[in-house]
Amino acid sequence: MVLIGLGLGPGDPELLTLKAIRILDESDKVFVPGKLALELVLPYTDAEILDFPMTHDKSILERTIDHNAEVVAAEAVHKLVAFGLIGDPNFFSTFIRLKNRIHEKYPDIIIETVPGISSITAFASRIDVSIDRSFVVSDGSQVGSKIVLKARTPKKIRDGLIEEGYIDFIFAEKLFTEDERVTDEIPNKGDYFSILYASKKE
Ligand SMILES: C[S@@+](CC[C@H](N)C(=O)[O-])C[C@H]1O[C@@H](n2cnc3c(N)ncnc32)[C@H](O)[C@@H]1O
Repeated sequence: MVLIGLGLGPGDPELLTLKAIRILDESDKVFVPGKLALELVLPYTDAEILDFPMTHDKSILERTIDHNAEVVAAEAVHKLVAFGLIGDPNFFSTFIRLKNRIHEKYPDIIIETVPGISSITAFASRIDVSIDRSFVVSDGSQVGSKIVLKARTPKKIRDGLIEEGYIDFIFAEKLFTEDERVTDEIPNKGDYFSILYASKKE
């Protein structure tokens, strides 16, 4: 049926979104990848921990992802399943590999993600810094994508990014509103509430 990768926020159970709380309530089964995520979920519902060992050993990583994909898929083929993760599920999360593996093996399972407050933005409130210039987020790997805010001239911005080696582009405007527009046909003009997402090849 449906598998939802659910953002649980950066560590405080009060920093879950209303939508996350509703989905936890409606889900038939909830999985989490560790104790911190479990603590964020427990005020709202029960959950099962799936073990994701922290290792660089590729064979262990492969075995783990295969096993966990099987466990989650076995539930998600006939139920609404949530997989809760610290922060946001689409940023440096266990869910990225898990969803790719489930998608490969069980293409009929619908997989969605619901954003959570990421540590990438939440830290600023805790350490009292304000950022209003471009900044870099890194885990030590090569830079693979760029997010351009206020993309009022998307095509022009894209042309500049092609020079920097970016090859794939998605224009996203007024997200999560009734006027949302998401397209890879990059327009000449964009609204102030817009983002141009650019990525390089892996
Ligand atoms: C696997 S990544 C998960 C990121 C997460 N998906 C997010 O959106 O915040 C784990 C890294 O996120 C950062 N992180 C997550 N939660 C944090 C917190 N409460 N305080 C500080 N750093 C945090 C740390 O750098 C940690 O090593």
